[in-house]
Amino acid sequence: MRDISLQKASKKVLEDSRDFEKEPQPPRYKVSIRDFDAWFGTKQALKSISLDVKPNTSAAIIGPSGCGKTTLIRCLNRMHEMTPGATAKGHVIVDDIDIYGKGIDPVVIKRRIGMVFQKPNPFPTMSIYDNVAAGLKLNGVGNLEN
Ligand SMILES: Nc1ncnc2c1ncn2[C@@H]1O[C@H](COP(=O)(O)OP(=O)(O)O)[C@@H](O)[C@H]1O
Ligand SMILES: [Mg+2]
Repeated sequence: MRDISLQKASKKVLEDSRDFEKEPQPPRYKVSIRDFDAWFGTKQALKSISLDVKPNTSAAIIGPSGCGKTTLIRCLNRMHEMTPGATAKGHVIVDDIDIYGKGIDPVVIKRRIGMVFQKPNPFPTMSIYDNVAAGLKLNGVGNLEN
């Protein structure tokens, strides 16, 4: 009996070490939100939100006006905390990285994760062309005329 269980245990160790040597797998979820709360001052807008989005899929957030759809989306690229008095707590894991983790630069997150607003909000003193080109120009991407 003892020998059989030992045999089983050593077989498992061998299998586990083979798993370890395998190529890294793509993340199971593109986005995972875990135990996420958000406030505007003392008013809690998001309470204990957890949800997963698989890679290469679309997700729709549906609900009545004021239920927190926009707030949740603004939390997916650290935009929520730019509103004075707004705070957030929890985890948003994108490509296996918690964008609310220690040492994460919110500017880098905003550069990588875009958001299309319900209403357009161009800089009023600039043409639409210059508004569209602003990000590229700021980042030194030249030759826009071609
Ligand atoms: N800038 C803000 N200051 C204070 N409360 C806000 C602000 N924006 C939204 N809220 C409140 O947060 C809640 C969620 O709003 P929101 O995310 O805009 O809902 P939805 O997009 O689903 O209509 C609502 O109760 C709303 O009144
Ligand atoms: Mg909204």
